[in-house]
Amino acid sequence: MQTRERTFLMIKPDGVQRGLVGNVISRMENKGFKLAAMKMMPVSKDLAARHYEEHEGKKFYNGLIEFITSSPVVAMIWEGDNVIKMTRTLVGETDPQKAAPGTMRGDLAIFTGKNLVHASDSSESARREMGLFFDETEVCAYEQSREGWLYD
Ligand code: RTP
Ligand code: MG
Repeated sequence: MQTRERTFLMIKPDGVQRGLVGNVISRMENKGFKLAAMKMMPVSKDLAARHYEEHEGKKFYNGLIEFITSSPVVAMIWEGDNVIKMTRTLVGETDPQKAAPGTMRGDLAIFTGKNLVHASDSSESARREMGLFFDETEVCAYEQSREGWLYD
């Protein structure tokens, strides 16, 4: 019996502007994860501050808020066995220059300030971030016919 989890994944403004929305989604779909919610949206200053509250006061904080509010993002919820930790692995290290080839940041980005995606780093963060970006009514619970070919 697997532990089905949900995580929050966001394509940042650079990913949308660079036309990498499909590439990011394909990686998650190809792995076998199930899309549970998705929307393209601007991020308000208030939402940005709440999302990044753990970084308030750090030297990169003001630039991070400016960046994330500068252009629309694609916010998503993905579901699957161990999806929180595995998505962090697929995303790669924060600094794309240290991120392994094969990861999203390792393959598709160069600079920490423009590192393409955000992914929740724990079950507490996932719960908090899903709640910031989505109403419960926007999250879809459904069966995918392929699930029997992905899990025991
Ligand atoms: P994220 O939250 O976006 O998934 O990234 P992360 O966990 O890998 O990294 P985190 O430490 O949470 O930092 C959040 C975002 O802030 C920007 N950052 N800039 N210039 C810097 O030293 C620096 N450090 C972090 C990055 O955009 C990072 O993704
Ligand atoms: Mg983080």
